[in-house]
Amino acid sequence: MGMSESPYIKACYGRNQGRIPVWIMRQAGRYLPEYRAVREKVSFLELCKSPELIAEVVRQPVERFGLDAAILFSDILILLEPMGIALSFPDGGPKIANPVNSPDDVRRLKNYDVAAALPFVAEGIRQIKRRMPDTPLIGFAGSPFTLACYLIQGKGSKDFDLAKRFMHEYPAAAEELITFLSDITAKYLELQIDAGADSVQIFESWGGVLSKDDFCDWSARPVNEIFGRLKHKRVPRALFVNNVAPYLDVIGDIDCEVVGVDYRIDLAQAAAALPHKAVQGNLDPSALFESPDRVRERTIQILDAVENHDNLIFNLGHGIQPHTPIASVEAVVETVHGFRS
Ligand code: CP3
Repeated sequence: MGMSESPYIKACYGRNQGRIPVWIMRQAGRYLPEYRAVREKVSFLELCKSPELIAEVVRQPVERFGLDAAILFSDILILLEPMGIALSFPDGGPKIANPVNSPDDVRRLKNYDVAAALPFVAEGIRQIKRRMPDTPLIGFAGSPFTLACYLIQGKGSKDFDLAKRFMHEYPAAAEELITFLSDITAKYLELQIDAGADSVQIFESWGGVLSKDDFCDWSARPVNEIFGRLKHKRVPRALFVNNVAPYLDVIGDIDCEVVGVDYRIDLAQAAAALPHKAVQGNLDPSALFESPDRVRERTIQILDAVENHDNLIFNLGHGIQPHTPIASVEAVVETVHGFRS
């Protein structure tokens, strides 16, 4: 089967007449015993830097559940290390020992060649494609603003107050930082496509903390620019957004094929606000802790609510959580695949 005939790729372009495709945010993760077995032997960062292990953990959920797409195993923060950023994941979550605190810190960030500095990403992609030539592979990166959030805050946060303060206190340095991150991100995604990624997704996980004007300047504008640089590669371009229901009009104008949304918004409402996009989402990952029957009902509820199924890609509304029952994931996949087959 050619890649352009896969349900996932067809849905990205709004012309899927077959079964509805499904994949899961963080599908290679700690809820999966075979992933945990690999992680017992290596740290998270070691795993991200081993092409063989990348290919192994990417394959695991696709094979176990019959998912319609694979996603590269890496992290959005991996491209910060070669800038001179000291990144670690001490207890699961990210930590940066030398965060960006001042305009001087922005100037100190090193520019670098993505192919030379991150060889394990392209090699990981090549090994995934060798092992799973018929499964569409999603490459990904963080949005410039989401990367800036971690760079400045130095760790996760619910409101990224330090990052927001920096953007307002040092607008010129903020602009410089976003431009720098956009340029590297465009090159990084090009590298992934050239290595074999069949689509790319940008995670705008934290744009929802911004006011609308700031969202336009620091999220939509740079993301649109990155996608513009990738257009000639002719692979579907997807954007995941989190908690941005009031900004869907802005997102509708971004030059991309797919918009993934979080679980707070009604998927049918998102679809209506994004008439020229494929939509991806958006079952609440917490709902997977209910019984398989309830998981089926909630999955059907979303599928029933959406009018156009030709451009629908089923997913969770954010990353799957550790300890999620395997039976719930099976229930989601069965239900989606059985809905219109
Ligand atoms: O989806 C996949 O299977 C691909 C792999 C992937 C990871 N991170 C692996 C990971 C992807 C696509 C990401 C994206 C990512 N990373 C985002 C954007 C998506 C989102 O969640 O909004 C963000 C914000 C990050 C930064 C990050 N990395 C956080 C906040 C954490 C800790 C939270 C958590 O889930 O534990 C990580 C660590 C991380 N990234 C893990 C995995 C599998 C857990 C590390 C481990 O195995 O111990």
